[in-house]
Parts: sequence; structure tokens; C-alpha cells
Amino acid sequence: MRKLRLGVMISGSGTNLQALIDACASEHYPATIEVVISNRPEAKGLDRAREAGIKAVCIDHKSYEDRPTFEDAIHECLSDHKVQLVCLAGFMRLLGADFVGRWKDRMINIHPSLLPSYKGLHTHARALEDGVKFAGCTVHYVRPEMDNGPIIMQAAIPIAPDETEESLIMKTLKYEHRMYPAAVKLIAEGKVRVSGNKVAVKEDVELPEVGLISPVP
Ligand code: GRF
Repeated sequence: MRKLRLGVMISGSGTNLQALIDACASEHYPATIEVVISNRPEAKGLDRAREAGIKAVCIDHKSYEDRPTFEDAIHECLSDHKVQLVCLAGFMRLLGADFVGRWKDRMINIHPSLLPSYKGLHTHARALEDGVKFAGCTVHYVRPEMDNGPIIMQAAIPIAPDETEESLIMKTLKYEHRMYPAAVKLIAEGKVRVSGNKVAVKEDVELPEVGLISPVP
């Protein structure tokens, strides 16, 4: 099987990276992680990659004089590894329009809210503060505006009456860990098409067994 070559970009703990590593460990999974890039040397995700025998590279933004040179270094690393799809997984630096343009429709992100609600940080606390009844998570193609771009997959997560920020973070992560590998699989199988600001998914898709995940066949 010809596998889609992934580059995963992280800044921290890397539990979503781990979910992708675990999925890629199956010989039937249609993607393979070629390189993991962190902008922070202490990111735990770098150890996760190394433990799995995956090339792990730190490209520390502090070592570069400006954003374009930092992003050029990332671009070069991804290109050197012949990456076909970039997966942002808790990468905490804003990426410039040039870099995003170079990877248009070849770079995706996972965000812990039902976009377009709650872009940015502290999504769980803000949702609880507003008293919404559903939180969620989203996988989307990356566009230059933060947490914006064609939506590939979403999960709606019921908020319990006694929910705390901590419990909601943990609950959301469980959905993220199932959704991110599922979304990458769809792309790798050629079942995702971007049309304008929307994504069309082929109808015969196999979805992970969690309620409330869209697209629904
Ligand atoms: C996740 O909640 C993801 O949605 C957001 O950043 C967090 C990263 O967590 N973009 P981890 O590093 O994958 O554990």
C-alpha cells in the first residue's frame, strides 16, 4: 500500500501525536509519519516520536531572527522528508500567510471546540462560562486566519451539569484522539475534497464508533 507521508508539528505534550503514532503502527493504516517537528525543545511529544523510532526535530523559533526564517526552516525540513500532509497537533505558533499558502490544502489542524465557535485559547473554560450544552472538537484545513478553514470533521460533546474545565479538557481529548486519525485516514484514502471554504466527503466513509461525529453517512 502506498502511504501518505505525514509531518506532524507540535509544541507540547503530544497526545494527539501519540494517537497518530498508534494509528500509523497498523500496517493497514494508509499514512506514515516521516518527521515530527517541535518549536519547543522540551516538548514531551519529541520523546514520544523518538520512542516510536520516528525522526524528531526541534526547530526553536527563538533561534531565528524572524518568523519568515523560522518558517523557511520548517518548510525545508518538511520538504526534505517529502511530506505530503502537515498535521498541526498542538503547535502553538501562529503561521504566516506565505507558509500557509505553500501548504494550502495540504495542512490540517485539530482544535478543541466546535468551530467557528471558540477560536483561540481556553476554549473549554469559555464554553463553560457561557453555559453552552455542547462542547466539541474540529479537524480543519489551515488558512491564514487563526483556527479557520474548511472543516473536515467535528464531534459534539455533551457538557455534564457538574463539568469542570479539567474534566472537559480530558473528555474532549478522548474524542480528539479518535477523530484526528480518522480524518487523516479519510484524506489518505482520497475521500476528502476541498471546494471553496467547504469540504465534501465521499459517502462510503467508515467513521469511528463515537456518537455525534460528523460527517454522518
Ligand atoms: C489539543 O487540545 C488540540 O486540540 C489543540 O492543542 C491541544 C494539544 O494537545 N490544538 P496534545 O499536545 O496533542 O496533547
